[in-house]
Amino acid sequence: SVTVTVTPITLDFTAVPHSLADVVTVPSGYSVTVLYRLGDPINGNVAAAANNGTDTNYAQRAGDHHDGMSYFGLAASGSNPDPTNSTRGLLVLNHENITQLYLHANGPTASPRPESEAIKEIECHGVSVVEVARSNGQWAYVRSSSLNRRITPNTPMAFSGPVKGSAWLKTAYSPDGTGGRGTINNCANGTMAWNTYLTNEENWAGYFRRNNGDATVRSTIDAKQNVSLARYGIREGRSGNYGWTTVTPSDSSSTVFRRWNATATATLATDGTADFRNEPFQFGWVVEIDPFNPNSTPRKRTALGRMNHEGCQSGRMIAGVRPAFYMGDDAQNEYIYKFVSATPWSASDASASDRLAVGDKYLDNGTLYVAKFNADGTGQWLPLVYGQNGLSSSNSVYPFADQADVLINTRLAGDALGATKMDRPEWTAVNPATGEMYCTLTNNSSRKPVASGSNTGVDWANPRSYVDAPSTSVGNRNGHIIRLREANDTTEATSFTWDVYAFGAGADLDPTNINLSGLDATNDFSSPDGLWFSLPSNVAGQQTPVMWIQTDDGAFTDVTNCMMLAAIPGRVGDGGTRSVTSSAGGASATVTTRIGKAPGVTLKRFLVGPKQCEITGIHSTPDGTSVFINIQHPGEDASSPAAPTSNWPDSQAGNAAATIRPRSSTIVITKNDGGVVAI
Ligand code: FEO
Ligand code: CA
Ligand code: CA
Ligand code: CA
Repeated sequence: SVTVTVTPITLDFTAVPHSLADVVTVPSGYSVTVLYRLGDPINGNVAAAANNGTDTNYAQRAGDHHDGMSYFGLAASGSNPDPTNSTRGLLVLNHENITQLYLHANGPTASPRPESEAIKEIECHGVSVVEVARSNGQWAYVRSSSLNRRITPNTPMAFSGPVKGSAWLKTAYSPDGTGGRGTINNCANGTMAWNTYLTNEENWAGYFRRNNGDATVRSTIDAKQNVSLARYGIREGRSGNYGWTTVTPSDSSSTVFRRWNATATATLATDGTADFRNEPFQFGWVVEIDPFNPNSTPRKRTALGRMNHEGCQSGRMIAGVRPAFYMGDDAQNEYIYKFVSATPWSASDASASDRLAVGDKYLDNGTLYVAKFNADGTGQWLPLVYGQNGLSSSNSVYPFADQADVLINTRLAGDALGATKMDRPEWTAVNPATGEMYCTLTNNSSRKPVASGSNTGVDWANPRSYVDAPSTSVGNRNGHIIRLREANDTTEATSFTWDVYAFGAGADLDPTNINLSGLDATNDFSSPDGLWFSLPSNVAGQQTPVMWIQTDDGAFTDVTNCMMLAAIPGRVGDGGTRSVTSSAGGASATVTTRIGKAPGVTLKRFLVGPKQCEITGIHSTPDGTSVFINIQHPGEDASSPAAPTSNWPDSQAGNAAATIRPRSSTIVITKNDGGVVAI
């Protein structure tokens, strides 16, 4: 246990009002620099982007839909880490998805898809590693750095941990089930204490095609796979996002398109090595990247389970204590997880040169747990361990064969243990001063006052279901942020206490049953998603971090574009209990919840983004003077590339020519007086 001194600090900026403008708005006294845009070349040999749909070679350019991101300080020269350097570093960021319309001159061609268009779309996914440097106060990315790298859905990967070599990972590409190709739909991140980056595979299932009749074929091969595929949303009749399997490749031996067809071929070998029936089991993992070594092979860390991984952030790293890594599974009614290493933390590993070997040490052996929240404000971490708590071949939910089966089918194991179904767990973040873990629960349209069919009824940890005009749909429309305090404040704990830090809501909504946190015009928000704590190293005596909350919203965007807020976090248990009544869709239910944002706890809007964007991805230099943020999919609602619905980031500089295509981009925010951002 660690002694905590909470030193009061204040948020030293004026809250930004609601905005529907096509710019990033920040408080007065702050500046926005656009740093790294969709299509920007990461190689001196690649031309600057034309941004008119004609650009190619995205394996050497910034991808689309910038998402989770970490800054790693570099030494003044060379390629070694220096975690104290705030003027030269590597920015590592995810490219979660694409806005297909803007990638092609006249929008996408219908199926069968042209090979050139599909290659572009595939390469716009993945991860960027890009060197950034500050010179004379100005940030820029270093276009010709030898450390720059694009990781795409085609980059070779290695499997690591208990599932490595499993029969379920064997494909025509990887007959022994130890390797794979690429990563896709990478959402939030993880910044490891040993200078590696975790990228997390979220909505990967959507890319897979599965033909009608596959369930019948599979039932003769491995009937359990039908249960598994359905639980992860890969049902028969799916064509797969963007129709990549319809491409006829110019190289007939290429499998980079047909690999996305998970349909089993009845006439071929039944061990999975003759086709790509097992390709879906190669996705849904946490992937570790060593950004300082551009030639390193990323490792898929299977001990951390398989799900719609939103992000994976560590708890406090304390010498001699087994560290924990917290994860959300972002889909309606899914779970919150943590992985606890088998090995206590050794501080010298923070500066090891074989960084992926350190990852092997802490991320391949340990215990995966799923969270259960109780009505009395306590909770348990339930171990997902083969042979414990009924996770065996006789389980009534699903017969588990071994630990690899438990990990590949993490969701089924969570079902079997009766974990608490949550309102779409997105990012996790740990308060470095207290060790308390926060998780955004973005919204849930299937949360109803009373359970019915596939709808889940309200409970104490997910207590709201309501209508938020002008919508007529029912559910937890605006989301909330839950937090938990581990027993004895240790990452090794198997029990915790919890409350809800804040409930999203418009300030005009019912304060008794909806706007439970008393939000006002300076801080009302909806659909929290990105979440991060900053604790600048150079603020003397500061022991209270700033918590940052980012939104990905569709319910409040009639009033304001998506935003980022700053907060001074309190402690679990600040606010006491509240009775909440949900009356919607002809049903009514009352539950008692626990509310955490005590009166006086500060929460202020720091930034509002441009039109139709999501604000996601945040990290800062170690000195806190530069904060990096990603603006994802501005103008995503357009129906023609000739009529963009946002012109950002060009519009940030006042260039409002209406035909300029928007671009997902990384920005950096600095304070004009050179000080630490926000405080
Ligand atoms: Fe990629 Fe759940 O957001
Ligand atoms: Ca997200
Ligand atoms: Ca989201
Ligand atoms: Ca609304």
